[in-house]
Amino acid sequence: MNEIPAPEGTLTARYAHLGSGLIPVEPYISAEYYEREKAHIFKKTWLQVGRVEEIPTAGDYFVKKLDACDTEIIVVRNKQGQIRAMHNVCSHRLNQIAYDKAGHTRKFFCKFHGWAYDLDGKLTGVPDEKCFFGIDFKDYALTRVACDVWQGFIFVNMDPEPKVSLDDFMKPMYGDIEGYPFDKMTVGFAWETVVDCNWKLALDAFQEAYHVAYVHGNSIADAIDRSEGGSMPPLDALCGDLHRRLSLAGNQKSVYGNPKAVTSGGAAASEALSDAGSKRPIAASALRAGIGSARHAFPLDALPKGVNWTKSPNWLFDINVVFPDFYLSLRPNYCQAYNFRPIAHNRTLLEARVYYPEMTTPGGRFFLEYMKVALRDVLLEDLSTLERTQRAAETGVKKFMVLQDNELLVRHSYHVIERLLAEAETEAEAKAAVSKAEAVTE
Ligand code: FES
Ligand SMILES: [Fe+2]
Repeated sequence: MNEIPAPEGTLTARYAHLGSGLIPVEPYISAEYYEREKAHIFKKTWLQVGRVEEIPTAGDYFVKKLDACDTEIIVVRNKQGQIRAMHNVCSHRLNQIAYDKAGHTRKFFCKFHGWAYDLDGKLTGVPDEKCFFGIDFKDYALTRVACDVWQGFIFVNMDPEPKVSLDDFMKPMYGDIEGYPFDKMTVGFAWETVVDCNWKLALDAFQEAYHVAYVHGNSIADAIDRSEGGSMPPLDALCGDLHRRLSLAGNQKSVYGNPKAVTSGGAAASEALSDAGSKRPIAASALRAGIGSARHAFPLDALPKGVNWTKSPNWLFDINVVFPDFYLSLRPNYCQAYNFRPIAHNRTLLEARVYYPEMTTPGGRFFLEYMKVALRDVLLEDLSTLERTQRAAETGVKKFMVLQDNELLVRHSYHVIERLLAEAETEAEAKAAVSKAEAVTE
């Protein structure tokens, strides 16, 4: 609808199969659409749930509630050091096994009647076992969930037989960022909040930079590279079968726009401070305090080739949206891992984590504290529009939204979900037709 042909050379023209038309509002406000997403997307694909560093030793576990999958899972490191995931449901009379959000244990004991499970979920003990008339423990393990690890990120898949392996899910789009030093970014800060809006509406606000000049006008807008004009035009965008990426440039003469300054020091730091000293004195002081303190330097030419894939000297960061709900932004010296976990069609749990290299001096710690507050404020700005946008969308006044070229990832997100729902529903209908035909012939 309302297709305005995109001029040659634009991102929209490059991804012509996504069209250039308006995007329907219905997927953002419909409870029924959300049920379809749950059934055909969230219960069928790989979902990022945490990092291996959260459970470093055998017996460490965390529990994750996944409303979009109608379940809660336990993710645990077993005695062999492997990571396992299982539903948090006792095989006896279904009590939850783990009550805490995270912990360490030798075995899981159900707090109702005391059934015991090992770290692989195998049933190992039943009080009054003889009263169950020869129960076979093998039949009553905790129900396992497919679980695998990519670059230290733990993913689960509710499909007992995932259609693709995690490697095949990630490699086509993200094979060239493997080797990014996630394992050296071991200091982090995290926030969690529930936002009353659709999960896609929240994610969309993080997969375009058009809003930066406006929403972040008083905080980080001086980080925008203005050499090309516009609000914050991307260096490039990549749209895959499921995933998508955006690469952005920054003003190297700003603290926030030149994040390599604190780890690289030297010329990068002088450049970052050249303007910031007068415009952003506190940020500049924090940077000065932190320079040279990071345990790891991450020289740009040592990063994998898919990071800053245009090789721009003004590179600021890459946004990687791992389908469906995982936002992973990579910078020269820190990364952000945000999940937009649906709770309902108009309710989303945001889990935001930021990872930095360890700082070895008090000045470095001060810099990190400064960044924690700065990034928190930026995040609050990002969240400031979402609930109002949802309320406005739910009025039904507008049936469509209009996107510009630099909002290509929002367009891609809509099309991928539409395509997957259509494919899954066609397949389900075909299966139903076959069973009906078989029933008639029997
Ligand atoms: S419900 Fe778990 S032991 Fe009975
Ligand atoms: Fe933002």
